[in-house]
Amino acid sequence: MTTAITVARGDGIGPEIMDASLRIMEAAGADIKPEFVTLGEEAYKAGIMTGVTDEAWESINRTKLLFKAPLTTPQGGGYKSVNVTLRKSLSLFANIRPVRTMTPYVDSKHDKFDMVVVRENEEDLYAGIEYRQTRDTCHSVKLLSRTGSEMIVRYAFEYARAYGRKKVTVLVKDNIMKISDGLFHKVFKLIAAEYPEIEAESLIVDIGMARIADTPERFDVVVTLNLYGDIVSDIVSQIAGSVGLAGSSNIGQKASMFEAVHGSAPDIAGKSIANPSGLLNAGILMLRHIGQGDVAEKIENAWLKTIEDGVHTADIAKKGTNAVSTSEFADAVIANLGGKPSTLPEAVNAGAKSVKLPSPQETTKSVRTKQLVGVDVFLDWDGQNIKELGKAVEASAVSGLVLKSISSRGMHVYPSDRDVTAVSDQWRCRFMSQGEMKNSDIRHILENIEMKGFDWIKTENLYTFDGEVCFSQSQGE
Ligand code: NAI
Repeated sequence: MTTAITVARGDGIGPEIMDASLRIMEAAGADIKPEFVTLGEEAYKAGIMTGVTDEAWESINRTKLLFKAPLTTPQGGGYKSVNVTLRKSLSLFANIRPVRTMTPYVDSKHDKFDMVVVRENEEDLYAGIEYRQTRDTCHSVKLLSRTGSEMIVRYAFEYARAYGRKKVTVLVKDNIMKISDGLFHKVFKLIAAEYPEIEAESLIVDIGMARIADTPERFDVVVTLNLYGDIVSDIVSQIAGSVGLAGSSNIGQKASMFEAVHGSAPDIAGKSIANPSGLLNAGILMLRHIGQGDVAEKIENAWLKTIEDGVHTADIAKKGTNAVSTSEFADAVIANLGGKPSTLPEAVNAGAKSVKLPSPQETTKSVRTKQLVGVDVFLDWDGQNIKELGKAVEASAVSGLVLKSISSRGMHVYPSDRDVTAVSDQWRCRFMSQGEMKNSDIRHILENIEMKGFDWIKTENLYTFDGEVCFSQSQGE
């Protein structure tokens, strides 16, 4: 049965690479019915701040499949990234980016590697929760849930199992972000134990990325948080030869989206020199996903043969050779349909390899007790005398709570014998309870602080979970 797919031709180089990719898929006999919709720049220009038109939503919600070219997100101006909106609205929790080298046909700093980056797709700093509350400071919320972490980690192990991969490496920065990255790491270790046949490895993200850039061949499946995943997948596709080569799938319970890993490349748009391979590879992933693995195999082999033949777009063309245009590259792939690569590993019909999708209901939520033990009250204060600030705030405490510390930019400043200079205007005042406390205690502290003429800008409740302290200490506290 013909599968309807929603197609967005995208911005910048989008229409050029989408037309090339669809032409190849059609010539290979893909049984798909594209429904073209408007997303991105054109929608923004029509005043739609999300960049997604109503007819696009209607089509996506019906087909549950989106094949999209890159979209431009205007900087600033209150526009939200369409990509992030789509991933989050459709609950596309997993972003899978397979990358491998094609040496000697495509120059790479490395002879051979074959890696899959599994990136968490809905949370982390991409939750898009940002504030500016004082003249001097702003902050972004790095939001992680146990459910989201379990879903992506489990997906990575299920993917490794389905595709016969041997190792899963997690990249985290839990030596610094002990609570958020710490949760992700804890979940990773718990879930890894359920897959004893797969090697589990943990690396701090900075050295992890350095090693990936240096010796990518020692990695297999890499699972990580949204932002690290975004960065590492660009590194991996670049060191394989070009960001123009890799495709990705965004998988959710109810819908899926397929796209190239790169952006809309405005610097080369309209010149017909862009490499359509990234989007074509996303199309191959989509065909496998919808059960047309035989067509996917045919296209992938023709594409590999074209690369072997030395028919290359400018981004991967060897020195001294003539690069072909986007459409000439597509013509060459079409002419090679039915052919196979001679030395690069041949594509095989991987359609049957379905990855078991984890469900949010199956995740473990094991915490039994939650206790309120204090509150951080943040002030906007542009004074200089920190000791005076400390004394005034101390006097705002209510019975059973004491001011334990004041910090600025995460650094402990009060009480302190050091000579501290005020650098910024946001101050975190930590009140800790000496016994039981209630939410209403916080209200009373805020009233007292306000009466003393201070501008409180936000509060964070401090909790323990099953007795474990779940808030960070200030540096030097
Ligand atoms: P980019 O990926 O568009 O370009 C980076 C560099 O790679 C440029 O030099 C470009 O010419 C080159 N390049 C990218 N794709 C290529 C291809 N297929 N063939 C040959 N060369 C290629 O990243 P940039 O410039 O940071 O972002 C441009 C726009 O794309 C921004 O508005 C950004 O928000 C958007 N973007 C959209 C994404 C999506 O739709 N999923 C992902 C990343 C960025």
